[in-house]
Amino acid sequence: MKILHVVGARPNFMKVAPILAALRSRSGLTQILVHTGQHYDAKMSDVFFQDLGMPAPDVHLGVGSGSHAQQTAKVMTEIEPVLLREKPDVVVVAGDVNSTIAVALVAAKMGIGVAHVESGLRSRDWSMPEEVNRVLTDRLSDLLFTPSRDGDETLAREGIDPRRVHFVGNVMIDSLRAALPRALQSRIHQQLELTPKAYALATLHRPANVDDPKSLSRVLSALSQIATKLPVVFPIHPRTRARLEADPGLKQEASSLKLTDPLGYLDFLALTNSARVVMTDSGGIQEETTALGVPCLTMRENTERPVTCEIGTNTLVGTDPLQVVPAALAVLEGRGKQGTIPELWDGHAAERIATILVDFCRARGQVGT
Ligand code: UD1
Repeated sequence: MKILHVVGARPNFMKVAPILAALRSRSGLTQILVHTGQHYDAKMSDVFFQDLGMPAPDVHLGVGSGSHAQQTAKVMTEIEPVLLREKPDVVVVAGDVNSTIAVALVAAKMGIGVAHVESGLRSRDWSMPEEVNRVLTDRLSDLLFTPSRDGDETLAREGIDPRRVHFVGNVMIDSLRAALPRALQSRIHQQLELTPKAYALATLHRPANVDDPKSLSRVLSALSQIATKLPVVFPIHPRTRARLEADPGLKQEASSLKLTDPLGYLDFLALTNSARVVMTDSGGIQEETTALGVPCLTMRENTERPVTCEIGTNTLVGTDPLQVVPAALAVLEGRGKQGTIPELWDGHAAERIATILVDFCRARGQVGT
């Protein structure tokens, strides 16, 4: 049995690491790890391999940055010979990045099984590139692993055969739970001169928030107003950094924030765990804050992760400072959501996924003989 895992961009690493580890103890199985190279900076990629204890990739496609079409096409043409050579029983793709859809499309047309980790999420916002990637990847997949029950309902409504869908829980929370004891040893608070529970943590990288200077200015203005109350730490994604560098006015607006380079997994987890409030437009951070019981304000109009708002600590606040700032002040005054942990976010999702993957490979083998 051969399973080929694909990672490409930062949010993939913490989803695939626990699956690789869970499959290591299963017998009669070869695993191959492919890095597409969508993210390539040491701080966007290498540090996560160290922090998550992941093996180095067996294959590196080195695709790098580009337009959506260029990046997706390059992953497709680079992965095809790898799949022809390796002939895996199943390819495991995660999340909603361009590398995910690109590999799923090639594998499906070659008759290789496709397993999608973090399936069934929908923002219902077709202007998000990730939404296109999610819908199409799910349509192409033989195994759809959902992190929450709403995913199963969505996939059923879209006419996907329920026998392909497996509610396994949230594999990212496996990584979080495994890493938390090590994250608590991080020196990041001392390095940034922060007192636990006395700072806000912010991240921004969605094209809708950062690509248009007017939109970026709005969210920076909200964060700057909050920075008059407590320090706001802002690790900057390369996409956002490029926008600030290109516009001195925007750079000035960000000057009251505590800017840092992108942080590694353990340091970021340590900062999240002790933040008074987290303000973000990320997908994964909405889930990590819910798992940690830390209030999260999501600076978007929609979320593909409704369970984090319904029972977790997340609140959608949009991007208008008139909404964002009062919501943040309410959290600072102790009126943040307490939240509860969603079903099966228990640290064992990867084991459930491993069992289903092995059964799938065995069944394929029997059909083939
Ligand atoms: C991608 C994902 C997004 C995810 C995000 C996490 C897609 C469509 N989007 O967005 O869903 O939330 O990753 O980070 O796949 N860059 C660097 N160094 C790097 C990587 C990127 O400098 O290692 C810069 C480049 O200028 C690049 C830009 O960041 O053009 C954007 O990178 P890209 O991979 O296209 O998309 P992200 O915005 O990172």
